[in-house]
Amino acid sequence: MSDTRPISELIACQKSGWSLEQRFYVDPEVYQLEIDQIVMRNWILAGHESEVAEPGDFKVINVANESAIIVRGQDGALRAFANVCRHRGSVVCLEEAGNKRRFECPYHAWVYDTEGNLVGARNMPADFDKSQYGLNGISIDVIQGLMFVCFSEGPPSLDRAKSDLDEPLRMFGLEDLKVAAVKTYPIAANWKLAVENYQECYHCAPSHAEYAKMHTLMLDGKKMARVQSKMLERMQSCGLRDMELDFTDLDAPAGQQGYGYSRTAMFEGYKTGSRDGAPVAPLLGNLTDYDGGASDIMIGPFSYLLAYSDHVVMYVFTPVDQGNCQCTVYWLVRNDAVEGQDYNRDELVWLWDVTTYADEEIIVNNWRGVNSRFYRPGPFSLMEINENRWVEWLLHELRTASSVNG
Ligand code: FES
Ligand SMILES: [Fe+2]
Repeated sequence: MSDTRPISELIACQKSGWSLEQRFYVDPEVYQLEIDQIVMRNWILAGHESEVAEPGDFKVINVANESAIIVRGQDGALRAFANVCRHRGSVVCLEEAGNKRRFECPYHAWVYDTEGNLVGARNMPADFDKSQYGLNGISIDVIQGLMFVCFSEGPPSLDRAKSDLDEPLRMFGLEDLKVAAVKTYPIAANWKLAVENYQECYHCAPSHAEYAKMHTLMLDGKKMARVQSKMLERMQSCGLRDMELDFTDLDAPAGQQGYGYSRTAMFEGYKTGSRDGAPVAPLLGNLTDYDGGASDIMIGPFSYLLAYSDHVVMYVFTPVDQGNCQCTVYWLVRNDAVEGQDYNRDELVWLWDVTTYADEEIIVNNWRGVNSRFYRPGPFSLMEINENRWVEWLLHELRTASSVNG
């Protein structure tokens, strides 16, 4: 790399309103700083509590080099642990999800219970004190059924998010949903390109024929106002209240994790995000009818939800390594909905499965080009305002971190 400026200078020279300089994507030092100061320090959506409803139910989530076991203890409490053995550091749990009374390390068979205590360790000296070798705890919190983990001590507060999102999440009965489908899409690109792509709909018309048929985000101001006002007229009689919250992480009060909520109308004739616009599952929460809208919800910098009237789709973007990331997508329906009767899994996942594959392709193409010696930052369009805000937030966090680290 010919550019040897310190990171603080790189950040200071980044042109506002333009895509990031190449080094933000390809420099291992920047990547490490992001992992330590951003990815590990913010809450990451880890699924829905219904996935670990019973004592012994567990799931594993992997983020960059870290792995966490989320487990419902025999005492009914939800906990998260670093998936790292206290003997010599092997990963303890190799399965992705299931139900267990004990976690046995695959290396030398140390055994942990569902509360993280070490309960078995063979051939250790007589004075070995098992109570000192429990699994390391990881921060976990729940917002109306949504599980969040944070890999560092002293994570940002979720208090404001919890109180402000209380009503919007309750409208869709978030707590009483279940995961009807979940899929992880590996993306061979730096993680930021995947998050940036989710922030803007400049690419929607050229890249997402299916999405663009029903969602209106790419309409210009006047046309948008027209469809939006029609939805607003319908909204109340459908059991929904019009509201908007906008605290991206950059604008969030100090120490609080950012969040946002807004609802956008879909095109006439579309009740939900389905192939033909027809319902794909029973109405959520206390909704009484379809208003033809979809709510965008953001909690923290990597986790997004899209709440249609009859299902919720959640997207979580996490790094794997510098040139690889993943997008985990969850489809949620009412917990009393019966598959094959109330919903058809293939129809439910159709839109966001096809859209996420299309996104993967454009993100990977973006990554290829960003790695070229000919790559130069380019100016954002008027439809990339949210992406610009996210980039500004990232730069702010990196600037703070790099000045603290000297
Ligand atoms: S590393 Fe887990 S038992 Fe040895
Ligand atoms: Fe997209």
